[in-house]
Amino acid sequence: MKQRENFGSKLGIIMATAGSALGLGNIYRFPCEAGANGGGAFLIVYLAVALLVGTTLMLSEFIIGRRSHSNPIGAFRVLEGKKNGWMSIGWLGVVCAFLILAFYTTVAGWTLGYLGKAAANHFAGNDLAQIQEQFAAFTTHPWLPVVCQLAFLALTAIVVARGVKDGIEKWSKILMPLLLVIMVVLCVKSLTMPGAAEGMRFFFKPDFSKINGHVLISAMGQSFFSLSIGMGALITYGSYIGAKDNMVSSSVSVVLADTLVAVLAGIIIFPAAFSFGIKPEAGASLVFTTLPMVFQQMTGGYFFCLIFFVLLVIATLTSTISLLEVIVATATEELKLSRTKAAVLGSLVTAVIGLLATLSFRTGSPLHINGKIFFDILDSATALYLMPIGGLLIVLFVGWRMKKADAIDELTNGGTLRVGIRKVIYYLIRYMAPVAILVIFISQLVGD
Ligand code: PHE
Repeated sequence: MKQRENFGSKLGIIMATAGSALGLGNIYRFPCEAGANGGGAFLIVYLAVALLVGTTLMLSEFIIGRRSHSNPIGAFRVLEGKKNGWMSIGWLGVVCAFLILAFYTTVAGWTLGYLGKAAANHFAGNDLAQIQEQFAAFTTHPWLPVVCQLAFLALTAIVVARGVKDGIEKWSKILMPLLLVIMVVLCVKSLTMPGAAEGMRFFFKPDFSKINGHVLISAMGQSFFSLSIGMGALITYGSYIGAKDNMVSSSVSVVLADTLVAVLAGIIIFPAAFSFGIKPEAGASLVFTTLPMVFQQMTGGYFFCLIFFVLLVIATLTSTISLLEVIVATATEELKLSRTKAAVLGSLVTAVIGLLATLSFRTGSPLHINGKIFFDILDSATALYLMPIGGLLIVLFVGWRMKKADAIDELTNGGTLRVGIRKVIYYLIRYMAPVAILVIFISQLVGD
């Protein structure tokens, strides 16, 4: 059997998976989605889906990954043989990885640009209008965001080319906890701003009449996106999990940490945004204008801002690494390319699609379809369609196609862990998860 790398320790899996999960999905996309979908109403659905469906789907991916020791495409061949349709789940995942990486690196590039701005103290003394203007000028600049995006992709490729253990695990382990600390500091600041209570009410008080098909699918899409599930990233990481590692407790820890960081991001953004008079549905500019405004009003704001953007870049990097890893693991195992070649080729292809996403923010850009910019099309195509479909197929595979004994074998590490709750989890994978995904998916298709 060929030698494959494994994560070094249990903390390694949690940290690497948390590294994949924590990122722009929590700090950028979550506030945008919650803001656009009614705040509290969105949060309630989000919590339910992330905690219940998210955990079971994450485990399903780990089961497939560890059982097959393979990339998402190879995994279904190992488990099912070549001549059947299951391998298409893997293909779907790889396509999804390219598409997500393409638009994700747009915003990743912005974080790099904003790190530069933070270092150069560009926000000092600016009022809200000026900070909003800075964001608009930066994101619609003809080449600056493109250069930042390419730099981010290059950084990702370098880490991924060096391999799983050296690259991915080391980065995640040290810096994720630090991010949490700085976020708590920001929460305290945001909560003490004038008018903060109104933002808290918006975020925490659910108006159930606002829950409709669109809110349901947006919350589900956001939870899949945020947890990196439904597209094979965690099949890939699952394939590096050692035989003795406890996948159940690892998944629960990651889901809780990811949810905590998203909620913290909401507690930072909404009170502050309301305090400054920034609309919760402001979309892309919500986070990138609210945060610099907050820093500007803090004692030691310059340093907090700098450290925050350093950590955000790193949190983002550990997510782009996991996306590129899907592509690289597949290309090295299926096409027998070297890791370096696969990383370079994978990021080149991504760069081409990604440039279009970044440039679609320019006013008058032809990259609009049906009134939506190309960036948003990639975002919705993956989070609202491909990931839920991929997720559904994955839980159906584990719950209905795989032998029950094999799935339980993985959940209990070959019978060495207690079955109890793990059997319940198996039934959640088999019944609850597919029904929940289907109901939400259909509720959105049939309209609000
Ligand atoms: N979960 C990551 C985030 O929240 C994004 C991601 C999606 C990473 C899918 C890998 C796979 O930032």
